[in-house]
This record gives sequence, C-alpha cells and structure tokens, in this order.
Amino acid sequence: MTLSKTIYKWLDDRFKLRELLPPIVKHPAPEYAVSNPLYCLGGTAFLCFLILATTGIFLAMYYKPTPAEAYKSVERIMLEVPMGSLIRSVHHWAANTMIAAVMLHMIRVYFMGAYKRPRELNWVVGVFLFLTTTTFGFSGYLLPWDQLAYWATKIGTGIAGSIPVMGQYISLILIGGNDLGAETLTRFYAIHVLILPAAIITLLLLHFLMVRIQGISGRL
Ligand code: HEM
Repeated sequence: MTLSKTIYKWLDDRFKLRELLPPIVKHPAPEYAVSNPLYCLGGTAFLCFLILATTGIFLAMYYKPTPAEAYKSVERIMLEVPMGSLIRSVHHWAANTMIAAVMLHMIRVYFMGAYKRPRELNWVVGVFLFLTTTTFGFSGYLLPWDQLAYWATKIGTGIAGSIPVMGQYISLILIGGNDLGAETLTRFYAIHVLILPAAIITLLLLHFLMVRIQGISGRL
C-alpha cells in the first residue's frame, strides 16, 4: 500500500472520511461552466491568494516593520536571503494578478447577471472581498519604506482624509498621528498581516459556502 493510502486508511478508520468527504468533494460543476474560462476567474483570484499567503509567510520571517530597518530588511531579502528575490517577486506579481482577476471576475458576474436573486448577498460579500483585496495592495505598498512607497501612501491617506465627515478620522486611524512615521508603518503592517488575512478568510468562507449552496448561475 502506498504512503498516501496508508494515511487515508488511518484517518478513515478514525473519522469515517468515506462517508464525510463525498458530499463535500464530489460535486461536479455544470458543463457550461467547465467549458467557459470566464468561470475560472474567481478560482484564479483564489489561487493568487494562496500563493500570496505562502510567499507572505516567508517574507514575514525576514521583514522588519520599523523605519530604521524596513528598507534594509527588504534589501537583504532581495540580495542575501536564498531565493528571497524570487519569493518577493512572486508575491508582487501574484498581488497584481489577484487584483486583475478579482476585477475581471466582478465584471463577468455583473454582465452575466449572476448578482441577481438569489445571489444578491453573495454580491455584497463580493464587494467586501474587492475592498479587502485592494486594501491588501495599498497596505503592502508602504512596507518597503522607500521613496515610492512613502509618497504613494502620503497621497493615498490624503485621499482617504478628504472623504466628507469620516475622512479625518480614517486618516488619523491609518497614519496614527499627524504625519507618516513609525506608527504608520506598524499599523499598515498589522493591517496587512493580521487584520486583512482574518477578514478575507472569513469572507471567502462565506463566499464559497454560498456558491456551494446556491450553485453556479446558469447561462444568460
Ligand atoms: C478574493 C476575491 C474573490 C474570490 C477568490 C472569488 C471566488 C469565487 C469563485 C471561485 C466563484 C465560483 C466560480 C466563478 O464564478 O468564478 C465565485 C462566484 C461568485 N462571486 Fe466571487 N470571488 C471573489 C470576489 C468577488 C467579487 C469582488 C464579487 C462581486 C462584487 C464576487 C461575486 C460573486 C458572485 C455573485 C458569484 C456567484 C456567480 C455565479 O453563480 O455565477 N466575487 N467567486
């Protein structure tokens, strides 16, 4: 018996996998969805998220979120850490691809009318997923603490600050004071590696659960 079969049998004896798994795993997608690549965009976004989470864990082992060390630690990842530049580049391109895939997925859902009854709530969860994904990109942009990151964040927080009524509070929470500094960097780091991952995992669970219960919408 192969190792994987031995492990499966061991788990099956204890947790009755043979009864538990089929209703969850054996759920064929409809033929019109399998043959149309437009239905792969959500899955592409999810694959990007998995790549980002894995590469992000490796980056977090070397990155230091303080103004004195952030840039140097990124430089070290790029120049000294074995395969560091590869991991960081994959993280960078997976982030760009995820944003593109999420936008295209949203456009496909909109133009195919898949947001209509009974999927309205999944559209709403999707909007939060879109906001979470773009905030991931925005918060990650500051972390290298170079000139580009600094000024892009200055403009981004300035835009957030110009929102009527709530703007000044949002900007104060993001910046953590009057100007960008150590406080901002640690806040953005906490948002990027703790708050957003927790939020996106919760939203994705809800999103997939609803897709599973309601099924994929039909053709136009
Ligand atoms: C992290 C971002 C996202 C991931 C990983 C994701 C993933 C998926 C997957 C795998 C599906 C099933 C297959 C498919 O239609 O592609 C799906 C369906 C759906 N998604 Fe997303 N999604 C994301 C963001 C969004 C956004 C931004 C919206 C809209 C605002 C949205 C709305 C929907 C709706 C309404 C469905 C059901 C479509 C149907 O039944 O045809 N999703 N999503």
